[in-house]
Amino acid sequence: MHFLPYSLALSCMLSLVTESLAIPTPSPATPVSIPLVRRRPKRNNTDEWLQLQRDAVVAKYGIGKSAQQKRASGYNLLGNQDGDASFYGSIAVGTPPVGYNVILDTGSSDLWLAGSSALSDTTSGISTFNPNTSSTFKDLQTSFQITYGSGAAQGFLGTDVVQMAGLKVDAQTFAVATAVTEDLLNSPVSGLMGLAFETIASSGATPFWQTVATNGGLDQPLMAFQLTRFTNDTQARDLEPGGTFNLGAVNTSLFTGDIDFQDIPGGQGTYWIQELTGLSANGASVELPAGAASYAAIDTGTTLVIGPTDGIAALYAQIPGSQALTGQNEGYYAYPCNANINVTLRFGQSTISWPISDDDFVLQQRGNSCIGSFIAVDTSAGSQVPPWIVGDVFLKNVYSVFRATPPSVGFAKLSAAAIAQNGADGPAPSPTVGSVVSTVASVETEGVRSSKPNGAVKVRAAWSWAAVGAAVLLGSCVL
Ligand SMILES: *[C@@H]1O[C@H](CO)[C@@H](O)[C@H](O)[C@H]1NC(C)=O
Ligand SMILES: *[C@@H]1O[C@H](CO)[C@@H](O)[C@H](O)[C@H]1NC(C)=O
Ligand SMILES: *[C@@H]1O[C@H](CO)[C@@H](O)[C@H](O)[C@H]1NC(C)=O
Ligand SMILES: *[C@@H]1O[C@H](CO)[C@@H](O)[C@H](O)[C@H]1NC(C)=O
Ligand SMILES: *[C@@H]1O[C@H](CO)[C@@H](O)[C@H](O)[C@H]1NC(C)=O
Repeated sequence: MHFLPYSLALSCMLSLVTESLAIPTPSPATPVSIPLVRRRPKRNNTDEWLQLQRDAVVAKYGIGKSAQQKRASGYNLLGNQDGDASFYGSIAVGTPPVGYNVILDTGSSDLWLAGSSALSDTTSGISTFNPNTSSTFKDLQTSFQITYGSGAAQGFLGTDVVQMAGLKVDAQTFAVATAVTEDLLNSPVSGLMGLAFETIASSGATPFWQTVATNGGLDQPLMAFQLTRFTNDTQARDLEPGGTFNLGAVNTSLFTGDIDFQDIPGGQGTYWIQELTGLSANGASVELPAGAASYAAIDTGTTLVIGPTDGIAALYAQIPGSQALTGQNEGYYAYPCNANINVTLRFGQSTISWPISDDDFVLQQRGNSCIGSFIAVDTSAGSQVPPWIVGDVFLKNVYSVFRATPPSVGFAKLSAAAIAQNGADGPAPSPTVGSVVSTVASVETEGVRSSKPNGAVKVRAAWSWAAVGAAVLLGSCVL
């Protein structure tokens, strides 16, 4: 997540997980024999008998839940911070509910908000969460730490009512950060909402989106992004309109044609993984290895596109006059600015190659020398971290859809209405507390459950370089 694209000192951060993520292993089933005797309730003329017939069908097909629960969808207008560096939306937390801006990050799975003690500079203009002012907040007495490339946050876990885009979860687990590293948050953003899967949550908690999706709270089990481009707008202010986030439905005014869905390889959600099966620069394609060596996390919380050293070198080899930078700027490439670069990406079994605007490919211009926004970083130390991380540099060029069932990512062409929002200066949205359309019960999570017996739970994202054999999660890289 969270790259600051204008400084070129690259230091890649890996956060180490001292405990590998526990995937429950099913215990062998004990054979149980069920006597095949069915006693049919004797027919009579009462209301009870009628109800029994209906309830039996409802129970068999599991239609009771969804019939009783109101499904919903909603949307959130986004903010675009610092010329496409990050995109945020808003949530409301607590009783009474208070609105906060949070980075929407499909590349991580934890929700946290800065607590008042987290910010040394009280004039930062950042709204902080104070548990004392919410009558529904429950402290889980569990510590929390997470590291991203651009910083780290630590604090403690609690539960409270969380609302977003008209959807509400009664007891969502999230972290109140008591300390955040400098520059991790820039006003008006108060925290981060992870939108990847529970399997990679440092807290072990089920992410908000997954709770509403798996509990049948959504019209469709998906979320979608349209992200604006201001990188080539010299008049752009620090905050601009960032596009739209839809939860539970797509917005058909924002794309044209079909959404090209490709399954997550293996069908198991961790990051939102896609296999990168096509990469080209100005019509020349780059050879990619098959399988996991070309897996990519589709990550709204990362500004750039990150790839393995070989793959990135092969890409720039197609750009005449390009050159790898060294020293502090290792991983970056420079190329002559007079070249108009058209890089395309293709995923999974798709036949569609999605082009990236030259405006997005140019990260910096220094005289006649341009620096590209595809950079080489070795992520191989991470067991679950794919070699490619495809961030906003790509996502601004498509309508992107993250679907829970079947687990897949889809892309579609942006509509003229969506494209017209690029560079259209305007006020960035402020967090509002909307009305709740649907409430979803929270899911008890593995991490929190395991804290019950003795009140001491191991926080999964402890960061220590010494943790040998640990699983490594790539937060991202500081630029
Ligand atoms: C009618 O059937 C229902 C459901 O099987 C049962 O609960 C009820 O006792 C029956 N009533 C009579 C009067 O038989
Ligand atoms: C919340 O209340 C407790 C007990 O009164 C107090 O110690 C703590 O400082 C308060 N926290 C904040 C953030 O105001
Ligand atoms: C930015 O690029 C878009 C095309 O991608 C173009 O329509 C727009 O005019 C450009 N804006 C500026 C300020 O150059
Ligand atoms: C869909 O997008 C259009 C164009 O930006 C916007 O006017 C409308 O409010 C959006 N509706 C929803 C439900 O997202
Ligand atoms: C970029 O390349 C793709 C595929 O080669 C092509 O379809 C697209 O029109 C090109 N875009 C530009 C702006 O040249």
